[in-house]
Amino acid sequence: MAYLDECTTLISAERIAERVAQIGKQITEDYAGKELIVACVLKGGFMFCADLVRQISMPLKLDFISASSYGSGSTSTGNVRIFKDLEMDIKGKDLLLVEDIVDSGTTIKTLRDMLLARDPASIKVCALLDKPDRRKADIEADYVCFAIPDEFVVGYGLDYDSRYRNLPDVMVLAPSEYL
Ligand code: PRP
Repeated sequence: MAYLDECTTLISAERIAERVAQIGKQITEDYAGKELIVACVLKGGFMFCADLVRQISMPLKLDFISASSYGSGSTSTGNVRIFKDLEMDIKGKDLLLVEDIVDSGTTIKTLRDMLLARDPASIKVCALLDKPDRRKADIEADYVCFAIPDEFVVGYGLDYDSRYRNLPDVMVLAPSEYL
């Protein structure tokens, strides 16, 4: 496809599906008997979360929160804006935040700290991708599908300037496209 000339595949859709099934099974075991609320962090988490919840074989409730720290550039502004809050009351509930990527960690730490103040029974983080080399905030995801090197990735929900979210694979975007 001509519009993909600037991308190379890092993680194929097949590998993603396999790993998401493993993590879904693990989450099912870990939360057995609990009242789980899965919170999809929009926008980037939409595709991962849609696949993940279908691999969790237990009753759960699904909610959405929308946050952004990137604006239209390729580096985080470090300033997290909440565009849409959760609708559910999480007091006493077990909350699982589902993110596409933990990079500096600023977004997920800001969300976790904000939501901890609502007195949930627990908060854990499930991330499709982890870039440990880029971490600034003191936070680690509890479930990680793939740890990746410090490359600019798009696809499977991740964007550059709102494009590429629809790609089924996680791909590396050539620096010429965003520098
Ligand atoms: C991206 C991504 C994570 C966050 C990770 O969101 O979806 O939420 O950045 O970066 P961090 O660990 O350095 O905070 P973005 O702000 O681009 O919003 P989006 O999900 O709507 O694309």
